[in-house]
Amino acid sequence: MKNIYKNSHENLKKAKKILEKNNIIAVPTETVYGLAGNAYSNGSIKKIYKLKKRPKFNPLIIHYFSLKSLKKDAYIDKKFLKLFKVFSPGPLTYVLKKKKNSKISSLANANLKTIAVRFPANIIIRKLLKNLSFPLAIPSANISSGVSPVNANDVVDEFGKSIKFILDGRSTKIGLESTVINLCGKIRLLRPGAISKNEISKVLKKNIPNTKKVRKVVSPGLLKRHYSPGIPIKLNCKKRDDKAAFIVLGKKYRKNRNVFNLSQNNNMQEAARKLYKTLRKIKNLGYKKINVVKIPNNKIGIAINDRLKKAAY
Ligand code: TXA
Ligand code: MG
Repeated sequence: MKNIYKNSHENLKKAKKILEKNNIIAVPTETVYGLAGNAYSNGSIKKIYKLKKRPKFNPLIIHYFSLKSLKKDAYIDKKFLKLFKVFSPGPLTYVLKKKKNSKISSLANANLKTIAVRFPANIIIRKLLKNLSFPLAIPSANISSGVSPVNANDVVDEFGKSIKFILDGRSTKIGLESTVINLCGKIRLLRPGAISKNEISKVLKKNIPNTKKVRKVVSPGLLKRHYSPGIPIKLNCKKRDDKAAFIVLGKKYRKNRNVFNLSQNNNMQEAARKLYKTLRKIKNLGYKKINVVKIPNNKIGIAINDRLKKAAY
């Protein structure tokens, strides 16, 4: 594809130039691919919302290279630093109190008093961030409510030619969006991900309640329908149905044209990595229904089930 650019010194320079003109590019991260724009520029943020057809009340995650650059935009405390030391750079997003004199566009955080921030680990996006004088707002590179892209071709599948520059970083390592944790006020897990609630609890030496038990919606982006391939999905299925794509896990399912195995060896990391790729493939093959077997609900399985439930809503 013409709009896919391989990871090279020259192309990183091109990417930088485009971002400095407040235009939007697609970038790899270790979780999923994202649409990146200058977080200090209202113009860039408007472009992101428009491209994604994203509701304006759903704020974006701001991506940083270092702690030093974050300090201009958000208040940090001991809990944050403890987690930062263990999990960043990596797939953990922190919701912090935004500083009054922060230059982050208020459109990027939907006019809230907080901002969500992340330090991605992927080496390509880190190289890019390091050379910029502003942080990047990077939502997943899909049309709002759709399936997140996990490679450069998926971004083309979502946006066609309307994204002119996609930095290629091959397939993403994790395949699911980052864990989101609220650290402003009561600690809450807002979105499960590769870093589990238990791991976070251990570092903080503190129990974190389930979001389910929290009545008020704390994350405006917790839309009920999300991550959806646009086909009805049925969960906890036991048997193969000839008319539906069947997503399975483990050795006991026989190969068949409509059987899609997330991991023969029940490797949950592999299953997470393959989930979005599989949903996209099934959709593009023209299936009208998807059945999914029961997925064990622990560790990253919790994040897989979260995405499947929202895709099935
Ligand atoms: O792994 C990821 O986080 C990817 C890659 C590209 O970095 N990005 C991503 O962004 O998943 P997005 O925009 O698809 O999801 C951002 C989530 C939404 O659920 C949003 O509501 C939540 O973060 N969020 C952003 N700012 C927030 C805030 N101030 N308070 C609470 N939730 C916030
Ligand atoms: Mg998203």
